[in-house]
Amino acid sequence: MCGIVGYVGKQKAAAILLEGLKRLEYRGYDSAGICVQQSNRLDVAKKVGRVENLVKEAAKQRFTGTTGIGHTRWATHGGVTDANAHPHVSCDGKIALIHNGVIENYAQMKSFLLGKGYTFQSQTDTEVLCNLIAYHLAKEPEAQNGTNRFVECVRKTLRHVEGTYGIAVLCVDYPSEMVAARKASPLILGVGDGEYILASDASALVSRTQNVVYLRDGEIVHVTPVSFAITTLDQIDVSPVVDKITWSIQDAEMGDHAHFMEKEIFEQPTALENTMRGRFSEDGSTAQFGGLNISAAEFRQVERFVFCACGTAWHACLVAEQLIERFARIPVEVDYASEFRYRNTPLDPSTLFLFLSQSGETIDTLAALREAKRKGYKALAINNVVGSTLAREADGGIYQHVGPEIGVASTKAFTSQLLLGAMFALYLGRMRDMSYSDGVRLVNALKGAPDLVRKALREAPHIREIARRYAQYRDMLFLGRLSLFPIALEGALKLKEISYIHAEGYPAAEMKHGPIALISEKCPSVIFATAGEMFPKVVSSMQEIKARKGPIIAIVTEGCELPPGIADEVITIPDCHEAVLPIVASIPVQLLSYYIAVERGCDVDKPRNLAKSVTVE
Ligand code: AGP
Ligand code: GLU
Repeated sequence: MCGIVGYVGKQKAAAILLEGLKRLEYRGYDSAGICVQQSNRLDVAKKVGRVENLVKEAAKQRFTGTTGIGHTRWATHGGVTDANAHPHVSCDGKIALIHNGVIENYAQMKSFLLGKGYTFQSQTDTEVLCNLIAYHLAKEPEAQNGTNRFVECVRKTLRHVEGTYGIAVLCVDYPSEMVAARKASPLILGVGDGEYILASDASALVSRTQNVVYLRDGEIVHVTPVSFAITTLDQIDVSPVVDKITWSIQDAEMGDHAHFMEKEIFEQPTALENTMRGRFSEDGSTAQFGGLNISAAEFRQVERFVFCACGTAWHACLVAEQLIERFARIPVEVDYASEFRYRNTPLDPSTLFLFLSQSGETIDTLAALREAKRKGYKALAINNVVGSTLAREADGGIYQHVGPEIGVASTKAFTSQLLLGAMFALYLGRMRDMSYSDGVRLVNALKGAPDLVRKALREAPHIREIARRYAQYRDMLFLGRLSLFPIALEGALKLKEISYIHAEGYPAAEMKHGPIALISEKCPSVIFATAGEMFPKVVSSMQEIKARKGPIIAIVTEGCELPPGIADEVITIPDCHEAVLPIVASIPVQLLSYYIAVERGCDVDKPRNLAKSVTVE
């Protein structure tokens, strides 16, 4: 939620900040702004709407300074206006600041500052931070013990803050310096060649450096043109660890595709190969993971799992639940991360937690993880972004290795989570009852997933045709059974988030208990009718829909014979092992949603009101 970028170096900052903001725009796109330090001034350009509006606005000014900060906003407090866009500048003009997060006690701080004569230009919670830093700066004498007054004033201010923040701050009196800090909002510092680039995520800085320092909660970094130093809120020095990003700028570019979402859908065969690379045992009968940090003996003690996640990742949990219960016979409970934290779930000592998150920065998921750990439970994570907060706070975990996912609608990260869920089920199953030969069969099936996905993707032109015929409907149902029920939920989520068509996912048999009231010629149903014992039951559900004139888009596995005339449209996917089926079945619903959204002229990669990573509660 919101993108932050900062630059301290020898180049002109404005162009680098604007480039960084373009790459971070998927994180929030209500407004954008930059501030560049120019000799003894802080010059600001900011504008409602996309970064391209800001680029035009910034062109009206001459930005020559080499230190600056930039922000793309996802509004929480105060409307989407130019005045509420970041950066904000203190009323004395000394401090400029950008912020990602929510200052929960901003009202108290604001009334304190108003009492001291400070004035405000915006309705944001953020503006109190720059005025409070300015207040401390005006009050504090230069520190005697060699500490930097600018840093100390930021530190003092943050000690009063309740809520969450990733901030970057400039001060007129400290030219060419930047102070940044985080609590529950991601920030990384790129260490370049004679320059430093601060960003919410690596996509904004990878074109300039692959060396990064992941800042942790409660840390403050002070950056000058020649050095940086990290301390904690309690003034303890931190030795920085410089990590290397393993992907390059090409991975964060669209190439020949019309949208990131399209690119990421078609990348899935390779993404799945990367997810499973090196993760099967030499005897080919089980999976192996490097970073779980839990011994086989400990795993055998686990009698129950609790999985927590949000959105698409929550759907991946629902599939993993079915596979783990089936192959490893361990009960799994899946909870929305945002609910788990506030529920009084009875937990027994042999429970193990697993958190799924593409970004590893979703605040609801992090809060659930912290609650589980507070209660003394071990927690694992499945996560895509290396070095994310989730990855660092979990006891162990598995990286997805699918490269940056930029499209707000998750696609390749989802199928990779499905694959890891199946591999984890195999791993646990082989520790318990699953035989060697069943293990080998499952390993071979999983290894075949990328090719089956390639095959499913070949239906794209046909699905595009279908999308043209269905783009103008206002409601749609997605129906599936067993492990395809979560894929129905995911199909409905994909469609609503990028095309704004109202869609709901249901277990196919549940349709007759309520949603059937929605069926008419105006409400099409997308229904999974795949080979297996459920096939005749699903066909019965289709008959019920047809009897009420509901249009049907059937997704069938090769070789399945539907009664003639029952489906208006048929999309075929390859027949496959039950553990691979949810992965392959995801492809047509992703493509259908994508092409419908394109047909409706929607901004697929930046759907309204959404942001890629939700870092506020
Ligand atoms: C996916 O299409 C959504 N935009 C959203 O539901 C997302 O999956 C959710 O916010 C969780 O994100 P995470 O995986 O980064 O935690
Ligand atoms: N709470 C701040 C605002 O509404 C920051 C939001 C964000 O993270 O973009 O301006």
